[in-house]
Parts: sequence; C-alpha cells; structure tokens
Amino acid sequence: MKCALVTGGSRGIGRAICQKLAVDLGYFVLINYQGNEAAALEALRLVEEEGGSGAVLKFDVTDEEAVNTALSNWVEKHPDAIVEVVVNNAGIAKDGLFMWMKKEDWQNVLDVSLNGFFHVTNFFIQKMLRNRYGRIINVVSVSGVKGTAGQVNYSAAKAGVIGATKALAQEVAKRNVTVNAVAPGFIQTDMTAEMDEQELVKLIPANRFGKVEEVADLISFLASKKSSYITGEIININGGIYS
Ligand SMILES: NC(=O)c1ccc[n+]([C@@H]2O[C@H](COP(=O)([O-])OP(=O)(O)OC[C@H]3O[C@@H](n4cnc5c(N)ncnc54)[C@H](OP(=O)(O)O)[C@@H]3O)[C@@H](O)[C@H]2O)c1
Repeated sequence: MKCALVTGGSRGIGRAICQKLAVDLGYFVLINYQGNEAAALEALRLVEEEGGSGAVLKFDVTDEEAVNTALSNWVEKHPDAIVEVVVNNAGIAKDGLFMWMKKEDWQNVLDVSLNGFFHVTNFFIQKMLRNRYGRIINVVSVSGVKGTAGQVNYSAAKAGVIGATKALAQEVAKRNVTVNAVAPGFIQTDMTAEMDEQELVKLIPANRFGKVEEVADLISFLASKKSSYITGEIININGGIYS
C-alpha cells in the first residue's frame, strides 16, 4: 500500500492536499491533525467521497515522542505500507511586532514549522532512502522568502525550513528522494479568515486571495513522478506578490 502523510491535513491547505494526493495520485492518505478530530474526519469523508482512501492520525508535530509513537504504531500495524510522500504542512502564526513579542509566541511558531519538520521528516528519511524513492514537500510561505513585518517569528520559522529543504535535497538526491518547498502568499483558509481581504488584495497583482486547491495542485505535481528532476526548489504561489 503506497501512502502519503500530510501533517495538518484536517483543515485548509492540508485538507485540499489530502484530497489531491488521494484522488489524482491514488495514495492512501494519512491525515494528521492536532486536536480538531471533527475536521480530520470531514477531510477523510471528502477523500472517500471522491473515491480515495485514507485514515486520520492524531499527533502534535512539536512533540517528538508523540510523533514517533503514533507513526511507529501505525507502521507496525501496516507492515505492507510504504510512505512515499511526506508533506510538512502543519503551521501556525502568532503575529505581532517583534518589540512586544513574547518568548512563547516565538517558540511555539518555530516549534510547529521547524521542529515539526524535523520530527516527522527524520522519522521517514531512512525508510525513503532504503526504498530509493521519496517525495518530501514543505509548505513554507512568502514570509519565509522575503520576511514580513509583524511576523518575525513566522518568517524565521519558514526561512529555517527553506534552508533545511535546500540542504536535505542535496543529501538525498542520489537515492531518488526529492525535497522541495512551496511558498504560498495569501490563501483563503482559517489562518487568513480574520484578515482584511478587501484591503490586502490591493497588494496582490492577481487581485485576489489564492484557493487551497491551487496550492494543492502544485503539491500534487511535486508529489508525482513527473517532478523527478526538481529538487531543492522553493516554488512561489502568490498571485505575483513577490518573486
Ligand atoms: N493560509 C495562508 O494564507 C498561508 C500562506 C502561506 C503559508 N501557509 C502555510 O500553509 C500551511 C497550512 O496553513 P492553513 O492556512 O491551511 O492553516 P489552517 O487552516 O490554520 O490549518 C492548520 C492545520 O495545521 C494543523 N496543526 C496546527 N498545529 C499543529 C501541530 N502542532 N501538530 C499537528 N498539526 C497541527 C491543524 O490541525 P487541527 O485541525 O487539529 O487544529 C490544521 O490541520 C501552514 O504551514 C501555513 O503556515 C498558509
């Protein structure tokens, strides 16, 4: 059974990724979530409604022991499963000016994006190398590429993942494991729901926020065999906001 794991697959961009990987590429999708079980089950229902298959898997990507326990248990129960695709999508933002930033807001944002990348990817990397095939895709942000005022923590976390993407890609390319990142601009999800969309679209050449399906389509391509010669890349998807 060929599988794809999507962290933060319960809502937003992650949910759309689960649907595309299941339907377009035929993967059994492991839909990771942290706390919102109803949303994770709804993501699974949507995958199944479209003819795909998968399972929900609860763990907090910041907790190394929880990641290792949940994934080891799952792997043990499914000895025929090969996880070919890992999408590190879980991420949070705690915005505010740096001069007033609390240590916990710095720490929590780095923990989810950067340490979460480490915990999940580190669990799978040897298996992918042994299997001589793998796709690792990290969801970063335009903020990690250019830096965004009011998001020093988030920009640092995503820039850290960008560095890791480029470095790891070079370590594993010989074994047909590719490592890429996708850097969205403003996408309509819970994360951007409170933003003043009318004002912000003025900054976007395409004159609108992006849709989760648009990001998921790009990730589906990177997760496919068609992207074999692309590695260590950071691909912007932002309606022209920055390139
Ligand atoms: N939306 C945008 O405009 C935008 C732009 C650039 C980059 N991004 C990036 O895209 C990714 C997805 O964003 P989104 O807008 O889809 O977010 P979202 O709608 O807020 O969903 C966040 C997802 O991450 C999960 N999650 C959060 N903390 C977690 C943890 N510690 N362990 C495991 N899962 C965790 C949530 O699970 P629960 O449902 O259990 O809470 C949920 O599935 C993030 O990395 C974000 O930084 C988003």
